[in-house]
Amino acid sequence: MGSAWRVFWQQFRENFHTTGAIAPSSRALARELCWALKDQRAVADSPPRRILEVGPGTGAVTRFILGHLRPGDRLDLVEINPQFVQFLQRALESDPRFRIPPEVEVQLHQGSVLRWEPQEPYEVLISGLPLNNFQPQEVQEFLDRFAWLTRAGGVVSFFQYIGVRRLRQWVASAATRSRLRGIGQVLHATLSQYEVRRRMVLGNLPPAWVHHLRFADPRPPSLPGKIERASHP
Ligand SMILES: C[S@@+](CC[C@H](N)C(=O)[O-])C[C@H]1O[C@@H](n2cnc3c(N)ncnc32)[C@H](O)[C@@H]1O
Repeated sequence: MGSAWRVFWQQFRENFHTTGAIAPSSRALARELCWALKDQRAVADSPPRRILEVGPGTGAVTRFILGHLRPGDRLDLVEINPQFVQFLQRALESDPRFRIPPEVEVQLHQGSVLRWEPQEPYEVLISGLPLNNFQPQEVQEFLDRFAWLTRAGGVVSFFQYIGVRRLRQWVASAATRSRLRGIGQVLHATLSQYEVRRRMVLGNLPPAWVHHLRFADPRPPSLPGKIERASHP
């Protein structure tokens, strides 16, 4: 198995559009992305949780998530890139840093989160998607999908690199500038309504903002049909 950095660098060069980063997330970034899991851990008799990680890549954040899971929890990993899926599958099978805690179910799925249709919604969704690489309407689709995938009161956590959009606006073509401006507007509209926590993580390459959202009901109107919520009172 190649090292995570080597695989990541290769995918950065071969699939920049979906990879969007030069290196896996740092421990500091992973720690902050897991904020909602730490929070709920304090409640001794809280029920098992369903957690979704979107775009786990080589598993830099996955390892931290695993460290926060309790018996009965379930973790789904949805990754679009088959090379990352292969790497992560092997890591989950044989790398001690990816030890799955007892009575925890972990499932790795290959495909786009836009097509992911689970049986039940999640309490926590953690995303590594490189939002700046997409069109504004795609970013809106991702955010809507995240809202649809989480139960009311659930937490969605994601990051964006600090200043990258502003920096690229200086050097990019008019079309790219307009795309980046559009992404900023889409993110601002959602964050101003649903953000519950924001932290700056300087210890990452590049430094990042981590955003935590809590979508309440009613959900955004553009969502696809509802997930059956029978087992989520
Ligand atoms: C910036 S990397 C983050 C990887 C990892 N979470 C980390 O923090 O090191 C973005 C990840 O999102 C994945 N990805 C991009 N578009 C996706 C989609 N539509 N559905 C699922 N995964 C996607 C990429 O393949 C890649 O693994």
